[in-house]
Amino acid sequence: MRSKVTVVGAGNVGATLGQRVAERDYADVVLVDVIPDMPQGKALDILEAGPVLGYDSLVIGANGYDETAGSDVVVITSGIARKPGMSRDDLIRTNQGIVTQVTREIVSRSPNAILICVTNPLDAMVQLTWKVSGFPKNRVIGMAGVLDTARFRAFIAQELGVSVRDVQAYVLGGHGDTMVPLARLSSVAGVPLPNLIPAERLEQIVQRTRDGGAEIVQLLKTGSAYYAPSASVLQMVDSIILDKKMIMPCSVYLEGEYGINGLYVGVPAKLGAKGVEEIIQLDLTETERAALQKSADAVKELIGVMGI
Ligand code: NAI
Ligand code: 2OP
Repeated sequence: MRSKVTVVGAGNVGATLGQRVAERDYADVVLVDVIPDMPQGKALDILEAGPVLGYDSLVIGANGYDETAGSDVVVITSGIARKPGMSRDDLIRTNQGIVTQVTREIVSRSPNAILICVTNPLDAMVQLTWKVSGFPKNRVIGMAGVLDTARFRAFIAQELGVSVRDVQAYVLGGHGDTMVPLARLSSVAGVPLPNLIPAERLEQIVQRTRDGGAEIVQLLKTGSAYYAPSASVLQMVDSIILDKKMIMPCSVYLEGEYGINGLYVGVPAKLGAKGVEEIIQLDLTETERAALQKSADAVKELIGVMGI
């Protein structure tokens, strides 16, 4: 039987993700949005590309949730996105209401699904999703680290004139200004990054990575990034649906790992059919650990704002 992937929020990230999943040809796709007819229109458009591109995925759009029943993976992208000058944290109150309502609708119809939250502020929203869903921690995951790491890898590859495929990197922590690009543990074809790029230049690349979301917002002016974000979610969906057990940085619920307790924060995790199958503990220096803790403290502050 084909798998079923629901994407709630058929906006920029959600619709692009719906397209990417349909093109994989391993799952049927349901797009849900509150805007009348819009998810139906986008779903039909994606479906009609199937004969040209050669996929048989059934793609449907809906304004309600009955069509989502029995989903294997549900991705939550519903909410408002950042406008120029807005921080991710400014989004918190509006998106708290939206994510709470959406999660309740989803879990009542797909009690065994794996939930991937994308809505910002990401780490706070995934903690909210987990809490509202009542699901075990392995079945609720946040997407941010794959995106932040992809940006870091893209900038490193450009700097050195090498293929992105040869760049290994990690960005840990919350999806915000305090994220922790780990230059020391990043490498190009096995050569440690600090041996390839002078420290001062590396710091500029690290800062560009931290500002990666804002850089796109400044350019687009009417919204935020969605091509790289949807590609990043797709990698997580691939690993879950195909049980690939890939290790990638995700926002996961920590219970003592990295000295952090009771909080969703970005760290490397193995994703497979059961969702989060293992949290990988990297050997961090004192400085790196302190930066991760600072990032976790910023997430905790947002959780406090939500009062959950
Ligand atoms: P968008 O505005 O294009 O799409 C959001 C969609 O959600 C809209 O179509 C809207 O109608 C829909 N929506 C609003 N309330 C809803 C509800 N109650 N039920 C169903 N649908 C609802 O925004 P975009 O660019 O797709 O971004 C979506 C979210 O993802 C934003 O919060 C954004 O900040 C976040 N984001 C997070 C990233 C990450 O790395 N975690 C990366 C990129 C975006
Ligand atoms: C990004 O990093 C908006 O969080 C989103 O592009």
